[in-house]
Amino acid sequence: MENKEQYLTFALTKGRLADKTLALLAKVGLECKEMEDKNSRRLVFVNEESKTRFFLAKAPDVPTYVEYGVADIGVTGKDTIMEEERRVFEVLDLKLGKCRMCVCGPAQARELLEHHELIRVASKYPVIARDYFYNHKFQTVDIIKLNGSVELGPIVGLSDVIVDIVETGSTLRENGLEVLEEICPLSARMIVNQVSMRMKNERIRELVSSLRKLIDAEEGK
Ligand code: PRP
Repeated sequence: MENKEQYLTFALTKGRLADKTLALLAKVGLECKEMEDKNSRRLVFVNEESKTRFFLAKAPDVPTYVEYGVADIGVTGKDTIMEEERRVFEVLDLKLGKCRMCVCGPAQARELLEHHELIRVASKYPVIARDYFYNHKFQTVDIIKLNGSVELGPIVGLSDVIVDIVETGSTLRENGLEVLEEICPLSARMIVNQVSMRMKNERIRELVSSLRKLIDAEEGK
């Protein structure tokens, strides 16, 4: 039997994604009013009534908290989940923050990609970039890790192309770059600790099932 007194702990990605996730959770009965106070600097919030705990973390740390079991459940982007390669179960697509992981660059870089040249690829996502070029395209490339504003890479001549997230495409347009190849679609996902999945199975299954119904209903609107 599951212990109903046990808390279910969520690690959420700080910022807009946490706000959207909390709105979804509230609709399936898991509210956390205290978290709505935008001026609060608190990081952990407890709802005694629903026996839930929430904490806010930086995106790349969410899969870490979940793998180590300090959070039963995490919500973060598919990009982060792929990049961090943590041992967690991905159980649900929340269909929030939809965007794409792409190879981008100036139009003339298209030829370098077609001819499988030894190019330089700048990215905040070296694991995803390496996997795409080495395992899917069988192209040897030089990967350079950057920490943001990756579009600078081809502009200042550090790299031939970049692997980055494209949402509206305006950052690319404003910098004279374009999408050259699409790697995969992205959105926020729910991940679960492997032990929690067994020990708190009933609660987690119920939650995932109500969320799935809600998301499907909202999509069908
Ligand atoms: C992300 C991404 C692109 C931009 C894409 O950057 O890395 O730069 O958003 O969005 P768009 O297609 O709507 O223009 P973010 O703002 O997270 O900052 P970063 O460049 O410092 O990573």
